[in-house]
Amino acid sequence: MHAARILVASNRGPVSYKVSEDGSLTAGRGGGGLVSGLSSIGREAGAVWVCAALGEGDREAARRAGTRLPAADTGGHAVRMLDIPAQTFTAAYNGIANSVLWFVHHLLYQTPLEPDFGADFRREWVAYEAYNAAFADALAEEAAQGATVLVQDYHLTLVPGLLRERRPDLRIGHFSHTPWAPPDYFRMLPDDVAGQVLRGILGGDRAAFLTRRWAEAFAACCESELGADVLREDGVAAAVRFEGRMTRLGVHGLGADGDFLRERAHREDVEERMVALREQIGAGRRAVVRVDRTELSKNIVRGLRAYRRLLEDRPQWRGKVVHVAFAYPSRQDLAVYRDYTAEVERVAREINSAFGTEDWEPVVLHVKDDFARSLAAYRLADVALVNPIRDGMNLVAKEIPVVSDHGCALVLSREAGAAAELGEDALVVNPYDVEATARALHEALLMDPAERAERTKRLAAAATALPPERWFLDQLTALEGGEGT
Ligand code: G6P
Repeated sequence: MHAARILVASNRGPVSYKVSEDGSLTAGRGGGGLVSGLSSIGREAGAVWVCAALGEGDREAARRAGTRLPAADTGGHAVRMLDIPAQTFTAAYNGIANSVLWFVHHLLYQTPLEPDFGADFRREWVAYEAYNAAFADALAEEAAQGATVLVQDYHLTLVPGLLRERRPDLRIGHFSHTPWAPPDYFRMLPDDVAGQVLRGILGGDRAAFLTRRWAEAFAACCESELGADVLREDGVAAAVRFEGRMTRLGVHGLGADGDFLRERAHREDVEERMVALREQIGAGRRAVVRVDRTELSKNIVRGLRAYRRLLEDRPQWRGKVVHVAFAYPSRQDLAVYRDYTAEVERVAREINSAFGTEDWEPVVLHVKDDFARSLAAYRLADVALVNPIRDGMNLVAKEIPVVSDHGCALVLSREAGAAAELGEDALVVNPYDVEATARALHEALLMDPAERAERTKRLAAAATALPPERWFLDQLTALEGGEGT
């Protein structure tokens, strides 16, 4: 085959399939920030997107399609979907990627009893290796001589190294969409696993991150866990030298897609949802909006508690404000995510029964994914609450200012990658500090409308500084421009 010039590899692809009752397959758009970030690219001539089949519908589609999914399903991308056996996929995705690696990078193990990698850990790790090897095989098969390969995220940390063994001629980059754990935390992983993850990424010519902070943490892990040399330029980690090879480090702060969002946010379905939302909020009331996957790192429960604290300590807001919280289902195969969803619902109910009145519902919680409704909430938000305990970037913080109708005050966690770019015009909070978050909500609600509009304008400019297409092209240029080796 050997035809593709540019290859992207990610766990989730731009399409996912459901099996209907009559056995036919229906294609839908793949979700998540990573997919939207990559969507503009893969349509380039000679580009191939390699992704995993996530469920039964995908596996069936992958089997029927052979090496390419029908272009009609993929929005024009050339997509090869890997039919990885269900058991291997589940162990690699749920067991290692979304439990162990996600938890380590987001510092989600917080009690003395954790981490408990579980009795299945070794079996799951072997599955993770097999799943990574399946990607490396497919990429090696597809790539033209000297092609450029962009490997995405914590699911695929071993791919750069495995692919280099198979195809030394390729230029290989890895991009982490998550934070990277500091060394003292990273070494919670079994030593051999920690070493494999780092060596895997160092098998590439470049390792890139969303902010400088995560790049530095990665470099520090390579130094302390592998004894690698970190090369500094102007005081920042620029490359890692290990076993005679050099891997350049890069930082590319993925921005919001301003043109797409502005256009999409003014379509009729969004306008309709704005009418419905305004009715739920009630005339003259302010809206504090949050939109997240129901994800532990997003800190939704503490956000609700901060809102409760606001109502308790500053009774002037009772009846005057509504917390519009969208918490969309995510990773529901994992018990800890199901429990978290239940906790979010419980805390929201408690606030409503403690403070609600006949004509005021303090929290409006929606748990069913609806992109048009998210955009409607973005447009009418007075305050946006983005308070993750740790986040690679957080695109919601960047999207809201872009589509806001009348200016929106942003309460933003200092632990989100986005804080590095938006910190000056946001109200920056320590996400663990419920009281401080409540205070920031109060300040945000009191912000003078003219100042709010000014800040929103500057936030929108910063948020769109590196739109997805340029974000991707910058990485290609850096890789093709001969960095590394
Ligand atoms: C994060 C990860 C992405 C992932 C997304 C959704 O943004 O960096 O790689 O696709 O979450 O998670 P999911 O497990 O649903 O793909």
